[in-house]
Amino acid sequence: MALNFVRLGVNVDHIATIRNARGGKQPDPVLGAWEAIKAGADGITAHLREDRRHINDDDLNRLQLLCSSENIPLNMEMAATKEMLDIALILKPKSVCIVPERRQERTTEGGLDVLSKFNVLSPIIHELNKNGSRVSLFIEAKDEQITAASHTDAKVVEFHTGSYAKAVEVGDATLIDNIVTEFKRAASLADQLGLEVHFGHGLNYDNVETIATIPQCTELNIGHFIIGEAIFSGLGTAVNEMRTLIDNARVGL
Ligand code: PXP
Repeated sequence: MALNFVRLGVNVDHIATIRNARGGKQPDPVLGAWEAIKAGADGITAHLREDRRHINDDDLNRLQLLCSSENIPLNMEMAATKEMLDIALILKPKSVCIVPERRQERTTEGGLDVLSKFNVLSPIIHELNKNGSRVSLFIEAKDEQITAASHTDAKVVEFHTGSYAKAVEVGDATLIDNIVTEFKRAASLADQLGLEVHFGHGLNYDNVETIATIPQCTELNIGHFIIGEAIFSGLGTAVNEMRTLIDNARVGL
């Protein structure tokens, strides 16, 4: 694998959102994960929320079976609660991404506050790590959060790209520039502190390349856009197109 390769993790949550709009079994997020893997996804991501609004426990178990049999990492996103910790300890996914969770939010709106929640997060991360799951912390690209993350057993930080995606959507060039400069600085600091750097949230065909050119970036986790785009082009084509954009962005780095 080339040094500058960036993995694409496909988040299948919103296949379950569509299924749950009607109840029943279709569309099945596990079949979607299988399509994404066939089309070149390097990992599958699923967020088991406290309210089970999309992925449920059975989905997660079946995703783990699929990913294990395909030798593809399952990245379980979860809140730092006892319930989720117990599930992750039994499931043993290759990766766990700890995210903040508020029941009223539509999606994960901001990063985890590792600094103020250090005493709660640290033992959870330690247990997951000891159990064989590589832990990632979903944070804002802020020095104090990165430094706090480096004092835990987490091996990865994932920077929240929600504000960046919004800035691109409204075409605010100055804000885009400022955020990307921050991302580059933060990625370099995380790398110096021995943390692997991922990015995710709100990424799409229009905004992914800038993020994919950040040298320390090793993984992008993308869900909502790919699943939405699949309506028009098919899931395999959407994964493939995203993969191509990411690969092209890395040429010459
Ligand atoms: N990364 C993390 C940690 C997330 O919580 C999410 C959203 O669930 C994503 C990536 C994917 O975001 P999106 O669905 O907007 O692509």
